Amino acid sequence: MSKANKYTDADLQERSLLRATLPRHIAVIMDGNGRWAQQRGLPRIEGHRRGVRSVRCMVEECSRLGLQQLTLFCFSSENWKRPKRELTLLMHLLKQYVIEERREIMRQGLRFRVIGKIQDLDPLIQTEIQKTVSASEANTGMTLCLAVNYGARLEITEAVQAIAEEVRAGRIDPEAIDENVVSSHLMTAGMPDPDLVIRTAGEMRISNFLLWQISYAELWVSQKHWPEFREPDLHQALSSYASRDRRFGGLSETASSEIDASEDLTSIV
Ligand code: IPE
Ligand code: IPE
Ligand code: MG
Repeated sequence: MSKANKYTDADLQERSLLRATLPRHIAVIMDGNGRWAQQRGLPRIEGHRRGVRSVRCMVEECSRLGLQQLTLFCFSSENWKRPKRELTLLMHLLKQYVIEERREIMRQGLRFRVIGKIQDLDPLIQTEIQKTVSASEANTGMTLCLAVNYGARLEITEAVQAIAEEVRAGRIDPEAIDENVVSSHLMTAGMPDPDLVIRTAGEMRISNFLLWQISYAELWVSQKHWPEFREPDLHQALSSYASRDRRFGGLSETASSEIDASEDLTSIV
């Protein structure tokens, strides 16, 4: 099987997966690079470097699985609090990834997108990001979205400002502001909401990631640090996802039909 090939139903079955129960969109909080390195007596940056390998594995596997989108949290708007040296190395790694991965993105037919305040990044990185975004625009495969200098509160605040401007300009009536209007002003406008959020390295928190978009996402926290997260770990998350009963505030099908069949509402109300 060539690397860019999609899994057939038989390939999926071999991995105990079923196409119908795969998420459309997975979002990943790639955490634990520093701890992975420190546990091995290595500098933190070595963890980030090794984390890039996990990114490559994850992108390729999700593309083979035929997902519509994979969003990776690479750098949060709060990560600027880190030491200067770590920031410099992280930005260097990001630039290298965007340049080196361009060929691979094209070979796999991926659409490359970025969310976050990109304008605050080094102009050279911005240029490289833009090149990859433009080159891959017409591709029809999985969308690979990197969240870089991204923070959900920042995103929502900017959306509120933009909507307020439109109200002031008379282009939108306050009463017409509904969930669709809000969604369409977020950085993720036009993208499907994540169905599954994976966080590595055990922390049970969201850390300001896609707060609006993950309202009904299923959560999976892996104890593995990001640099050691591989295909079998992803498959484990997918198996768990497949067994979830996503009710979106309603009832599961069986509970619904039981109520219809058994309850005589006239005796209650
Ligand atoms: C995730 O790993 C990568 C970024 C946030 C940039 P960390 O660097 O947060 O690793 P830990 O959590 O300190 O182990
Ligand atoms: C979340 O990880 C951000 C990214 C993975 C890019 P952090 O390491 O920044 O999160 P906290 O500080 O543990 O909440
Ligand atoms: Mg961390």
